[in-house]
Amino acid sequence: MPETLTIIDNRTGKKYEIPIENGTIKAIDLRQIKAKDDEFGMMTYDPALMNTASVKSKITYIDGDKGILRYRGYPIEQLAEKCTSFLEVAYLILYGDLPNGKQLEEWRQNVKHHTFIHENLKKLMEGFRYDAHPMGMFISTISALSTFYPESKNIMDPETRQKQIFRLVGKVPTIAAFAFRHSKGMPYNYPDNELTYAGNFLSMMFKIGEKYKVHPALEHALTVLFILHADHEQNCSANVMRSVGSSHVDPYSACAAAAAALWGPLHGGANEAVLQMLDEIGAMSNIPAFIKSVKDGKGKLMGFGHRVYKNYDPRAKVIKKLAYEVFEVTGKNPKLDMALELERIALEDEYFVKRKLYPNVDFYSGLIYQAMGFPMDFFPVLFAIPRTAGWLAQWQEHILDPEQKIARPRQIFLGSPERNWIPIDQRK
Ligand code: CMC
Repeated sequence: MPETLTIIDNRTGKKYEIPIENGTIKAIDLRQIKAKDDEFGMMTYDPALMNTASVKSKITYIDGDKGILRYRGYPIEQLAEKCTSFLEVAYLILYGDLPNGKQLEEWRQNVKHHTFIHENLKKLMEGFRYDAHPMGMFISTISALSTFYPESKNIMDPETRQKQIFRLVGKVPTIAAFAFRHSKGMPYNYPDNELTYAGNFLSMMFKIGEKYKVHPALEHALTVLFILHADHEQNCSANVMRSVGSSHVDPYSACAAAAAALWGPLHGGANEAVLQMLDEIGAMSNIPAFIKSVKDGKGKLMGFGHRVYKNYDPRAKVIKKLAYEVFEVTGKNPKLDMALELERIALEDEYFVKRKLYPNVDFYSGLIYQAMGFPMDFFPVLFAIPRTAGWLAQWQEHILDPEQKIARPRQIFLGSPERNWIPIDQRK
């Protein structure tokens, strides 16, 4: 069976044979198809890149129909259950294999070495208004890091690249926690490198005086949440990281752009939107009317649906279970019952069933975050911390891929043909 696709152009009757590789054809192979010699050649039109593979990747695998997610081949359920630290999974994502004991210790030391931020960066954060959104502070501060490490622009130097990876993975929890403390008007807590990645973050967030002790169950829950959010192949923000990185800008600028993409309510901002939605619904008795309004096209059931998953998001399954473990410590989030009822109705309702809309990662995560004491507007920041490892892995793979170039899509121009400039007093 030849691994080719035969195309007949009915405009000309010409036949083309296009090679198939990995179940795909190269869009550039269509360029030879022309009705007239002076034409540009055939392109594909794919708004939102619904059916276009723009990269070859070895990092994360998703089978959306079956609800499968794997990092470097390992099922997410196993990683969430067995890995005891986020850094173990970050290493896996960045370097391709689970670390052995020595590698993990080295990696941990390297990251810990970079958890503190420059005092001037702290001052920069102090300049934000008291009510600045923490994600806005996070994005701007990540971007500002490029001015502290100008050598980071040498992206093709492996050692320099490695150093920025240590820095970014090390510093994102610190920047996130400082943003939170700033909004509360509380003194910033410096990193405690004796603690785990998640434990240190919780301590920087919530420690007042010297007595704070990280609760092991909450530390474990946050570790699992970090693991679940570490990467998700070519999602909106990973695509931004790669696309911006393809201009060969420094990784801080690319990371800030990726974080900005994550902030939107259709992406990482959805967990915040889920809780806002639950607040608006207000009571169990209002759920049927709310579902009806969604079906009438008046809004979305936030935390439901996914571009790739047409089945239960495997991360949502783990999170739903985790929620009960957290609520044992914190007390149940009163919104849980409403969320469960929404899920029950949606999973039986023809509108959602027909469109294969299932709970995604954001449906239950917000309930846990809120129970743990994180304010709603901080949820996207909690997503961005672990995703930084994923972005860096995607970025590194991209810039080292000899097939990649600066990202530069084509367009179908439907605007005005050429026309002559006219003086202002003659314009309509
Ligand atoms: N509630 C109600 N209807 C929905 C929803 C929803 N949450 N999601 C999709 N639909 C409908 C949509 O209106 C469309 O209906 P129709 O065919 O009648 O026009 C159909 O389902 C297909 O949806 P789509 O908008 O074409 O799907 P998409 O792949 O472009 O969008 C999505 C995916 C995640 C943006 C979308 O499902 C959505 O907006 N969900 C709510 C926001 C959310 O929870 N986002 C988090 C995603 S997971 C974490 C992450 O990526 O960061």
